[in-house]
Amino acid sequence: MKKNVLRVEGISVSYGPIQALDDVSIEVDEGEIVSLVGANGAGKTSLLRAIMGLQKVHTGRIVFMGNDITNTSTDKVAGSGIGLIPEGHLVFSTMTVLENLQVGGYHYPQEVSSSLESVFESFPVLYKRRNQIAGTLSGGEQQMLSIGRTLMSKPKLLMADEPSLGLAPKVISEIFNILRDLNEKGYPILLAEQNAKKALEFGDHAYVMETGRVLFQGPAKELMGNPKVRHAYLGGNV
Ligand SMILES: Nc1ncnc2c1ncn2[C@@H]1O[C@H](COP(=O)(O)OP(=O)(O)OP(=O)(O)O)[C@@H](O)[C@H]1O
Ligand SMILES: [Mg+2]
Repeated sequence: MKKNVLRVEGISVSYGPIQALDDVSIEVDEGEIVSLVGANGAGKTSLLRAIMGLQKVHTGRIVFMGNDITNTSTDKVAGSGIGLIPEGHLVFSTMTVLENLQVGGYHYPQEVSSSLESVFESFPVLYKRRNQIAGTLSGGEQQMLSIGRTLMSKPKLLMADEPSLGLAPKVISEIFNILRDLNEKGYPILLAEQNAKKALEFGDHAYVMETGRVLFQGPAKELMGNPKVRHAYLGGNV
């Protein structure tokens, strides 16, 4: 049996009067790609932010590699091995590529150079552009930098929030290939993705969310064949 990496047990999150998550439970096992599918406002980002300690959890528990990390500071969550690639390929736009990566490695100052080497191996374009100001990179390159910066924190679980947002189809395929390679190197991945077809093709397991709740869950291939999911999320004709 596969070992469990992350277990979210019945969490709720609110922004004032707005309940963004209501009794949400998900699991990620080692080696797995888990997709969170759902339209705008479904609660995908809120869930990833709650796991990362960026959003207060009102009820429920988050357990990472056997430790309760509910409402732990983001710094500690990152230190314990969860890396979030945030929505909107955020990079420090006035810093160089190299400086962005160095910031990502601050938890492990002794290992920055070996981590840099492995990030540059995965992303040769970042090596080529290491002295370029990050804000002048293309959207796809910024997304690669965002992934690379997260890898610098030596995560044991990678969470990616809509990494394909705003990118051209060819670049989207490239980003998904990179994530697939990282998964094959051993990183479990929790992916939030609006494009249900992409998310279900990419994931081993998936959760379909709507207005803060999990509506469907199961092996991604099974969900792809579920008539209700097809009708509501895949246009019924995929
Ligand atoms: N800072 C905030 N203040 C108030 N409400 C918020 C805040 N952030 C999110 N919400 C609300 O919480 C709900 C869930 O939003 P969330 O961003 O988690 O959805 P999402 O699934 O990531 O959507 P998208 O695909 O558009 O990124 C929405 O109704 C949203 O309006
Ligand atoms: Mg979001």
